[in-house]
Amino acid sequence: MKLENIIFKKKNKVAIIELNRPKSLNALCDELIRELNIALESIEKDDSISVLILTGSEKAFAAGADISEMNDKEFIDLLKDDFIHPWERLSKFRKPVIAAVSGYALGGGCEIAMMCDIIYAADNAKFGQPEIKLGTIPAAGGTQRLARNVGKSKAMEMVLSGQVISANDAKEIGLVSNIFPVEQLQNKAIELANTIASNSLPVLIMAKEAVNRSYEVSLEEGMKNERGLFKATFSLKDRKEGMKAFLEKRKAKFENK
Ligand code: CAA
Repeated sequence: MKLENIIFKKKNKVAIIELNRPKSLNALCDELIRELNIALESIEKDDSISVLILTGSEKAFAAGADISEMNDKEFIDLLKDDFIHPWERLSKFRKPVIAAVSGYALGGGCEIAMMCDIIYAADNAKFGQPEIKLGTIPAAGGTQRLARNVGKSKAMEMVLSGQVISANDAKEIGLVSNIFPVEQLQNKAIELANTIASNSLPVLIMAKEAVNRSYEVSLEEGMKNERGLFKATFSLKDRKEGMKAFLEKRKAKFENK
């Protein structure tokens, strides 16, 4: 299939999706989301891929939902099309995803970064939920994931003022886990992706599921789920291999089984 709005690359066990609408700073139009979802489906099915990196250009990760596409819409259009629902596919993606964010991650751009598991930022990154300035509010998790990630006061400050924050501020409030000079960002993301990909894929999927449950359920329920998944790893050849390799003082050879 011909992809017009994203670029898809694969290196070893790592897939890279680059958002590619430079003229509109990677504004997230319907077609881009459709292509992204097709790529996600195929990566999820591809056993040779363990980790995904989602990235943009140096100037923009994504400047939000496409305002020119939204401009003429009425409530009834959004209701009929279940607008934004297709965006949620990324948050249901089961393999680990790293967002490598340079430049603007605004509105929907900040929201899709937050749907990823880890955010690495370039020192020129800018995060924000400026929807309030357009007379609307975030719609892809900006009011929900941001509050969970950075706490109520900072989330309210950003959502109610539309204020954009720097990479340093984003690191300070825990929105991103690391900042790098812009020219190093891609390599640093690939390095981390390779490290993650050297582990067993089914165990990565279980670990991701366990952490994500903590956002949905009580501590007791989350612990129960964690223990169930921990026990389930004992049905895998890779768990046996991991412990055996440790005891034999060698590197584990995981088979994703
Ligand atoms: N949608 C559509 N087009 C966009 C866009 C967007 N979100 N963001 C930027 N563009 C377009 C501009 O219209 C411009 O196009 P033209 O060259 O054809 O005029 C081009 O990208 C370059 O943008 P600027 O000239 O504005 O570039 P800048 O460097 O001066 O400013 C910016 C950059 C601060 C990011 C500014 O473009 C901006 O404020 N963009 C909008 C950000 C925003 O409000 N995002 C939230 C969208 S709503 C949303 O996301 C809802 C949701 O929760 C899902």
